[in-house]
Amino acid sequence: MSDDSIKIRVENVCKIFGPRAQAVLEQVRAGMSKNEILDKTGHVIGIRDVSLEIRSGETFVIMGLSGSGKSTLIRHINRLIEPTAGRILVDDTDVLEMAAEELHEFRRHKASMVFQRFALLPHKTVLGNVIYGLIIGGKDKDKARELGMKQIELAGLSGFEDHYPAQLSGGMQQRVGLARALATDAEILLMDEAFSALDPLIRNEMQNQLKELQSRLHKTIVFITHDLDEALRLGDRIAILKDGELRQVGSGPDILFSPTDDYVRSFVQDVNRAKVVTIGSIAEPVVCLSEAEASTERCYNLLQERLAVVVMSKGKVKTVINRELAAKPDRIGSVSQGQAYPQATCIKQDMTLEEGFALLAESGGLAIVTDDQSTPIGIVTHRAVLNALAR
Ligand SMILES: Nc1ncnc2c1ncn2[C@@H]1O[C@H](COP(=O)(O)OP(=O)(O)O)[C@@H](O)[C@H]1O
Ligand SMILES: [Mg+2]
Repeated sequence: MSDDSIKIRVENVCKIFGPRAQAVLEQVRAGMSKNEILDKTGHVIGIRDVSLEIRSGETFVIMGLSGSGKSTLIRHINRLIEPTAGRILVDDTDVLEMAAEELHEFRRHKASMVFQRFALLPHKTVLGNVIYGLIIGGKDKDKARELGMKQIELAGLSGFEDHYPAQLSGGMQQRVGLARALATDAEILLMDEAFSALDPLIRNEMQNQLKELQSRLHKTIVFITHDLDEALRLGDRIAILKDGELRQVGSGPDILFSPTDDYVRSFVQDVNRAKVVTIGSIAEPVVCLSEAEASTERCYNLLQERLAVVVMSKGKVKTVINRELAAKPDRIGSVSQGQAYPQATCIKQDMTLEEGFALLAESGGLAIVTDDQSTPIGIVTHRAVLNALAR
């Protein structure tokens, strides 16, 4: 069965480094530890029976400590490394079966590796740098220029296209590098610790830029980091590796709230949850009624099973009624009769708790969670916030 939403499939991949990898594979499969294998055979386990499905358009983060197999794993995707066992499928094509020419095209146009430092060519302008890969890849000059200018604008560098790298700050140079990486037509970007060498301020800026660009481009990004905060910030889903083994795959909140084992638990215990957990992830279901529908009886009945009812007026949030208010029937009456009522606090679902704290504080215990179109999708209570922050 093929599923369009899956871009990359890694199937039971093992990678053992050493001259007799195939022979050692049996012992690895029998369950010998990485250290035992090294002691007894001199071979190194790079990746141990990893299976993954990476979805089209997601930012998939692979994280783990140094030596856990992150680079080994990502390099399988564009076949810079071949597995000792297992398969890698990209858009249902087996990368191990590609002939040399096909593989070359694949690396250039489908799955492109973004290297650690975004070193710029000093004698080329910003635009020259951004379109360098496109020109080398045989793209028409005018077309490349057009694409390049678009990336430069997206990167917030308009007006600097004719500057040379030395005329830019370090942070701007990095942004040019990222713009160049994203200007390729590759659908898949493989980023191996692309931000790890940057100083914290620039790194922060680059993370923001990547998120911003990705929200428009919807590429499939496989991003490696050994930094959990970075993983949680960027990853739609995160895979945690230890000694070449996949310990858990899930969204940030999945991994924080339901770690599958003690290793993952110890890994995430010191994370500042307020920076990671989004308001949307702790929202509870809500019912929306129009003013006319929000009779005392209707609200009272709905509130037997729910925390709150949102009252809408002409597609906009009018107010929110909880059990406390429902116990005062005259208040609901005044709403359904269209009278003025205290404004409810609305918070966007993708804000983190930290970003939402000020709004939550003024909300009086209960706020409405909305999507990008300001449509209510749930309710968040102070209690839910405290629960999310508690270990
Ligand atoms: N070419 C190689 N030959 C032998 N061992 C290797 C080779 N490449 C990686 N390894 C080993 O494989 C393991 C995983 O390495 P790597 O994928 O580079 O980890 P990470 O990127 O997570 O730091 C490590 O134990 C490393 O020493
Ligand atoms: Mg590495």
